Amino acid sequence: MKICVLPGDGIGPEIMAEAVRVLKALDLKFELEEALLGGGAVDATGTPYPEATKKLTAEADAILLGAVGGPKWDTLARELRPERGLLGIRKDLSLFANLRPAILYPELANASTLKPEVVAGLDILIVRELTGDIYFGQPRGIREENGERVGFNTMVYIESEVRRIGHVAFQAAQKRNKKLCSVDKMNVLETTQLWRDVIIEVSKDYPDVELSHMLVDNAAMQLVRAPKQFDVMVTGNMFGDILSDEASMLTGSIGMLPSASLDANNKGMYEPSHGSAPDIAGKGVANPLATILSAAMMLRYTFNLEEQAQRVENAVKKVLAQGYRTGDIYERGTNKVGTKEMGDAVLAALA
Ligand code: NAD
Ligand code: IPM
Ligand code: MN
Repeated sequence: MKICVLPGDGIGPEIMAEAVRVLKALDLKFELEEALLGGGAVDATGTPYPEATKKLTAEADAILLGAVGGPKWDTLARELRPERGLLGIRKDLSLFANLRPAILYPELANASTLKPEVVAGLDILIVRELTGDIYFGQPRGIREENGERVGFNTMVYIESEVRRIGHVAFQAAQKRNKKLCSVDKMNVLETTQLWRDVIIEVSKDYPDVELSHMLVDNAAMQLVRAPKQFDVMVTGNMFGDILSDEASMLTGSIGMLPSASLDANNKGMYEPSHGSAPDIAGKGVANPLATILSAAMMLRYTFNLEEQAQRVENAVKKVLAQGYRTGDIYERGTNKVGTKEMGDAVLAALA
């Protein structure tokens, strides 16, 4: 079992250190190998996604990523930006299925900015398509036209891309409460008309799943109005990016939301849904739980180690019940700790 570890930039190395400690404490036969990705890779090698990293990510059974990016690299040419490294791995390895579970641990009901009764018991899964859409569509760029600049991107989905993510979403719903909401903007965009048509076709294979459709603007509103109406949501790359950050706040903090990016054979990259948090990087205060929970998803999806995955998730539940809180989920009366202390607490809960 070979895991490629990509700490990345900003808080990436800080949160990754804790996830790696947790993995090592499980005493499984993992081989962990670290590589460069993102801004650090640009600084060291001149490119965000060096050949050595490409080789390692292709060989590994799974990849664990912290986060990449930061203001230092925001003015580089687009192909040199840290985010390009991340997008490169997703595309190279066909990691088209991004699972982002938003679960509210009961102890964090007050950490959410929403009323506790709105979020209590929340357990939704966002299935985001990850290798298509406006993120990768061609043509793209900035050109001169009639003496001014024109920026353009292409929103495109191929039928087969929608079909395969549709199957992932329906199968996920079958294992849960059998409700799937597909989110699109078919009232305006042809791409998403195709999306809706194909999802309806795929639904014929899953008569036991109740399918509904929602326009993305309404979905954004419904997520904060009454999030518990959802079980599984499936949507494209761009809408999924935005809706999953929104959903993270239902769980108390973006520092709590893990993710799995899977190919057709459950090889995957596992990463928190948040970014490199430049505003708190280097301070030792970032919440490592989204990364630790991403490692648990890796145990579940790539290595089929359900019991070990639950062991890690139960340790996280235990530290929350014990009152350990990083700054992002802190409330009066709880025990405010830093990144490393939170890792220590999870390790103690595992033991
Ligand atoms: P961000 O998610 O990094 O930060 C948004 C806010 O959430 C900040 O206030 C930050 O302090 C807070 N936050 C995020 N993670 C936290 C954690 N674990 N604990 C406590 N607080 C946390 O989003 P941003 O500021 O828009 O982006 C910063 C950089 O990260 C950009 O360069 C962006 O491209 C990159 N990014 C990378 C990834 C990734 O690597 N997967 C994802 C998103 C953004
Ligand atoms: C995410 C991030 C990435 C995305 C960026 C950093 C390319 O926001 O994983 O959600 O937009 O997919
Ligand atoms: Mn995002």
